[in-house]
Amino acid sequence: MKHTELIRQMTLEEKASLMSGKNFWQTQNIERLGIPSIFLADGPHGIRKQAAAADHLGLNESIPATCFPTAATVANSWNIELGGKIGRYLGAEAVSQKVNVLLGPGINMKRNPLAGRNFEYFSEDPYLAGKMAASYISGIQTYGISACVKHFAVNNQEERRMSIDTIVDERTLREIYLTAFEIAIKEGKTKSVMSSYNMLNGVYTNENIHLMREILRNEWGFEGVVVTDWGGSNDRVDGLIAGNELEMPTTAGETDEEIIQAVKSGKIKEEVLDESVDRLLELIFATEEVYNNPQKEFDRQEHHQVAQEAAEESIVLLKNEGNILPLHKNKKVAIIGEFAKEARYQGAGSSIVNPSILDNTLDCLEESGIISMGFESGFDRYGTKNQKKIDKACALAKNSDVVLLYIGLDEATEAEGLDRHSMMIPENQIELLNALYQVNNNIVAVLSCGAAVEMPWINKVKGLVHGYLSGQAGAKAILRVLTGAVNPSGKLAETYPIKYEDTPSYNHFPGKEVSVEYREGLYIGYRYFDTVNKDVLFPFGFGLSYTTFEYSKIELDTEGVTFNITNTGQREGMEIAQLYVGCNSTKIFRANKELKGFVKIFLNPGETKAVSIPFDDKTFRYFNVKTNCWEIETADYEIMIGASCADIRLQGVITIEGTGAPLPYDNEQLPSYYSGKANIVSLEEFERLLGCKVPAAKWDRSKPLGYNDTIAQCEYAKGGVARFAFKLINFSHWFLRKIGKRSTANLIMMSIYHMPFRGIARMTGEVINMPMLDGVLLIVNGQFFKGLRHVLSEGRKRAKTAKAKQKLAQTTKEA
Ligand code: BGC
Repeated sequence: MKHTELIRQMTLEEKASLMSGKNFWQTQNIERLGIPSIFLADGPHGIRKQAAAADHLGLNESIPATCFPTAATVANSWNIELGGKIGRYLGAEAVSQKVNVLLGPGINMKRNPLAGRNFEYFSEDPYLAGKMAASYISGIQTYGISACVKHFAVNNQEERRMSIDTIVDERTLREIYLTAFEIAIKEGKTKSVMSSYNMLNGVYTNENIHLMREILRNEWGFEGVVVTDWGGSNDRVDGLIAGNELEMPTTAGETDEEIIQAVKSGKIKEEVLDESVDRLLELIFATEEVYNNPQKEFDRQEHHQVAQEAAEESIVLLKNEGNILPLHKNKKVAIIGEFAKEARYQGAGSSIVNPSILDNTLDCLEESGIISMGFESGFDRYGTKNQKKIDKACALAKNSDVVLLYIGLDEATEAEGLDRHSMMIPENQIELLNALYQVNNNIVAVLSCGAAVEMPWINKVKGLVHGYLSGQAGAKAILRVLTGAVNPSGKLAETYPIKYEDTPSYNHFPGKEVSVEYREGLYIGYRYFDTVNKDVLFPFGFGLSYTTFEYSKIELDTEGVTFNITNTGQREGMEIAQLYVGCNSTKIFRANKELKGFVKIFLNPGETKAVSIPFDDKTFRYFNVKTNCWEIETADYEIMIGASCADIRLQGVITIEGTGAPLPYDNEQLPSYYSGKANIVSLEEFERLLGCKVPAAKWDRSKPLGYNDTIAQCEYAKGGVARFAFKLINFSHWFLRKIGKRSTANLIMMSIYHMPFRGIARMTGEVINMPMLDGVLLIVNGQFFKGLRHVLSEGRKRAKTAKAKQKLAQTTKEA
């Protein structure tokens, strides 16, 4: 331990007090020992430091900061230097705002396109996500503060996110859902990790010994701090035993008391607490040091410029029929679409940044050189079809050479706490597009959204530029791509299926009651589509450029692969070359190909560069469930260099000597996994993969509701009051949507509907404590009067204790 001397001077109470927050964002301090509190703030793509009212849902405004493009956007750049640069700028802003721990990056896998926080995450591929995350983390931590990689782990849906039990087999867990974290921890060297809200195979992640101790600490050697997601602590003592140092936010001392009692009763050894305190002290002192030299204000313009650069490298050109782009000079352009006036540039929830500067298309038009014929919004951002607006837009389009149509998802659709209901963009935007197509078919769509959408309308546009959620400078960056000032170089970090039903997890997303079963196993994203040869709209790794590239001269050895890339077009540009590996043996099921490396290089017209991608410890490994280790199979491996996962330009074969581990599976028992057709897997086959029975996925409606049941389950509660409350919540949600207040309606879902009862105590800073909650649960379960009496008497006790504490604090202060 690094701080033994200091810990020796601490009382048990003081040690326990450090294990949870002092308030919503800060850790506890101990003045007499010179232990300061540190500040934790969201979020992944900008600093959300709340100076006044605090919340974890992005409701109250924060101090202005640069809103960089979200992770889903920057992943399209495939540029780890850029990730590092964004990280450094984030770090500098964190320091200038005195934030010690920046709560990001978020690196959960995009298992399903509808998952509500996809816009905050990098990719469906763990290698790409891990490498991008590591670069952000190194950047953020350059300044001595801490990144906090989240949400560890298997938090891939928002529905019932605080209680859902993720059922996943060990190999899929390791290869798909943990690899990005492994890279972030080993290569990014993050100083802290945020545990997720959900359970993993029946145990809350922050209490999960397998995840938190065996994998995170023992295997990966993580020595930093694990912090709970806000309000995500279930059993505080079990969490501590698993190595969860910090519970956030404050529970006003309630869980400190649980720790004290557990030490006194011997449930937990004091050394375990000491070790946690030691690691937390290390984080506190390491990140506090940075403020000894107070930083000056950050340069808003310079940071805005970096946000623009990040957006420019991340925009993806998806279609360019007849080279409609870059826009030819002298063309008369109609600007249509609500998002051109008010940019759609980030998602909703805890990641929301109050931008320091905000560009929008209309204001940047003049500088871009585009000859604008005018602007029409064409549709209501949150509404239904508006014929008047469509007519005006068509009139403008008729007199123009090209239509620039700004469409996408609105901010109430892509929000933390909620999954999307469909992959479509709003109908009123499609109706507008259909009408415009009748009068002018030179349409270039500019799409803004943070996740994959269906595009049944794709044939009606000649050009398609996907800006994703491109941050505060995104509008200008997109214009620079449209005019050709920037040659687009982004490639998709996720697959775009033709229709949602094609998604491999379609039948098992989201889990609606007790659990969600990852029956598709490791076949998520391109791993599935590519293996079963299913057509997609846009494959993983796809993106166009205004120039062309040729690949040649592949050379292979056991160290890696080298090849040449030539810019065969007329313009300078950047190409992203991707290394995929496939195994020729069929003894162990695998995806057809998996991403194992990538480079992004700049080339002048006519220029050729030699590129090498080294192999690493992930290139040939698979997780063997028999040996419980990473192993390598002796086999011939296809080494593929692609411009996307579906566009392999060079190929070679290499024989690799393996580790000689026994075969983990019997292929006859797992036909869906051996064929890759894992979109429909029977329960029995999934159980064979898991190696155990799958727990019941449905609620047992005969049982009384407890701490970990959610408010939504009041639907079947025994107590009439609870059932009435459920109806009221549902009605309010329906009504708010009906009157167009979608964000407020969302809030009900996020902060009430899916909240487990224990969350009431964890999130209210002891306004309602656990003993009072017991009374609430009695009411919910049909014992109204007994419950009410309990709530009132516990409330009185709580008030009395609080008063006594206050008095004690006052006397100590006076003394
Ligand atoms: C989110 C975290 C976030 C935290 C604090 C939670 O609701 O899941 O990502 O960092 O709130 O705002």
